[in-house]
Amino acid sequence: MINKSLGFLLSILFLSLLNQVHVSAHNYVPRNIDIERSPKNILIGSYVGGRSHLKPMLDIAAILTERGHNIILLASGSYEQSSEYPGLKQITLGPRLTVEDSKDGIENLDDFRIMAEFMKIRANIYNKIYEKYMNTAKEYNIDLFFCDGFANEACLDVANNLKIPVVGFTAFLLLIDPKPYKSDPFLGCNISLENESFFERFRCTLIQPLQVAFEFLSPRRQLIDARNQMNVKTDLERLPKLSLALIDTFFGFELPQTLPPNVQVIGPVMSEEYPPLTPELSDFINSNKRILYVAFGARLNTTTETNNKILQSLVEVINKKLVDGIIWKLPEASMDNLSPTLNLADGTQIQTLPIVNNEHPQFLITKFTPQFAILNHTNTKLFFNHGGVGSVHEALYTGTPILTLPFGNDQLGNAQKLKTAGVALSLDKHNLDVNDIVNKIDFLLKDEHVKKNSERMKFLARINSKRKYRAADLVEYILYSNSLLDKSVNDNFLKEWVPAEYRMGFIKANNLDIYGVLIGIILIFIGRITFKLIRYTLTRSSVKIKSKKA
Ligand SMILES: *[C@@H]1O[C@H](CO)[C@@H](O)[C@H](O)[C@H]1NC(C)=O
Ligand SMILES: *[C@@H]1O[C@H](CO)[C@@H](O)[C@H](O)[C@H]1NC(C)=O
Ligand SMILES: *[C@@H]1O[C@H](CO)[C@@H](O)[C@H](O)[C@H]1NC(C)=O
Ligand SMILES: *[C@@H]1O[C@H](CO)[C@@H](O)[C@H](O)[C@H]1NC(C)=O
Repeated sequence: MINKSLGFLLSILFLSLLNQVHVSAHNYVPRNIDIERSPKNILIGSYVGGRSHLKPMLDIAAILTERGHNIILLASGSYEQSSEYPGLKQITLGPRLTVEDSKDGIENLDDFRIMAEFMKIRANIYNKIYEKYMNTAKEYNIDLFFCDGFANEACLDVANNLKIPVVGFTAFLLLIDPKPYKSDPFLGCNISLENESFFERFRCTLIQPLQVAFEFLSPRRQLIDARNQMNVKTDLERLPKLSLALIDTFFGFELPQTLPPNVQVIGPVMSEEYPPLTPELSDFINSNKRILYVAFGARLNTTTETNNKILQSLVEVINKKLVDGIIWKLPEASMDNLSPTLNLADGTQIQTLPIVNNEHPQFLITKFTPQFAILNHTNTKLFFNHGGVGSVHEALYTGTPILTLPFGNDQLGNAQKLKTAGVALSLDKHNLDVNDIVNKIDFLLKDEHVKKNSERMKFLARINSKRKYRAADLVEYILYSNSLLDKSVNDNFLKEWVPAEYRMGFIKANNLDIYGVLIGIILIFIGRITFKLIRYTLTRSSVKIKSKKA
């Protein structure tokens, strides 16, 4: 029996080998992978501008430029790093907006309220921005809008008005595809509602959204007025139409969820090249084996109290020999926000000026840091950061664990996501405590799970970083299919990827009407039975009463 089946297996093996020999005798010719393309004009629009918003978009644009398309950037401020993207043409939308800069990092409102403030400012200059987009689109004969998804309605509105396809870009998935089981500290709740109590889910599902809607009532009103002035046709509540949304994140860091096909997760978008270490940094990193790299957002102005606590913690971790080198990126504005002396936990007093002046051998304090190259170095063991998405991607890509001190916006949610992924711990800016910082640094440096999780994230970030080419492919597909659209029937761009549920509406798409009828039928049925039962008992009792009387 065994012999028989063995013989059978061997003969199959033999046959398949024979088959392979047979097949490879053919002369193979390459599959044709060429696609038809002609140069198009693409407008990248960002209302807030700035490196963190523009860089990933420009990394995708760099691929499109290489493929022969023309890119025009329309963004606030002037993009300082345009030398990174030679040939890029920028038109400015005006000076950069600074709600955050005007206040210090700690006292800032850290949730949707600051966004509402921001929206008000934006509504006030909507008309100006709208005209800029419109004029640029006409002047450069734009074929596709590539819009930063944040506070950038004018970009979408102009594209929709001109019937030009528009691709949205954001790192904040919640903005594009909210789910009932996900939220964000930005909205006053945790990132996941999976393990929250009923009351917490009730609060996050009904009460918080009402509060958010209330806060946005007046900025939204202003925006609608501004739109009416410009004769922009948009329904009151419907967001402007995106042909495709590209999300600069990846599942593993982002909590998993289902997505419609026209929402594509394509991050982390990383550049091909990064600036190398300066000789000074290179010497420092190579002569110390365990580096802690500290950098908060460039636009963040930390208070003296915060800076003192951070510096004290850094000195403590050096004294405890948890690390042997610290690189601290300290902006000029923050350098003055430091007390001249600090008291350590063991009672000794230290002078801060020598440290800031780089006289302490284990400190390197600088204004400019080639961040990726520092994180990329094997001696960099931990990243102490505010949790901005660009920095987070670089840390995950290089497998560096993170201690986050989130200040606001998406940073609080990022900190929670990193913690859930097991690669980070986070601090509370309202409750900063030196002991807490030291203990968390100690834990992150020593814990085996953190090391393994960081390696896992590194692999995932690396394979996913290739998806920027897919992002460029999809933009090209929209451009190409657009040229084949039948304009007379008011075709939608990329309609082949829009699930029917968006056309059917919430009730029909979820068959709620059918369930409604079913519940109705059941209720009628129950009602009739109850009615009959009541009548039956009533007649019985009345019979009894009658018979008693008789
Ligand atoms: C969020 O999660 C943390 C634990 O990670 C928990 O302590 C907290 O109560 C949760 N809820 C809110 C609103 O932060
Ligand atoms: C919720 O709890 C379950 C069971 O303990 C766990 O598997 C899951 O990861 C938790 N979810 C989150 C978002 O922490
Ligand atoms: C940073 O804060 C200090 C006071 O804490 C202030 O003097 C300084 O002007 C601020 N800098 C910026 C750029 O906002
Ligand atoms: C990152 O590290 C690798 C080796 O680990 C090196 O080849 C590469 O040049 C480094 N890149 C940067 C930007 O430092």
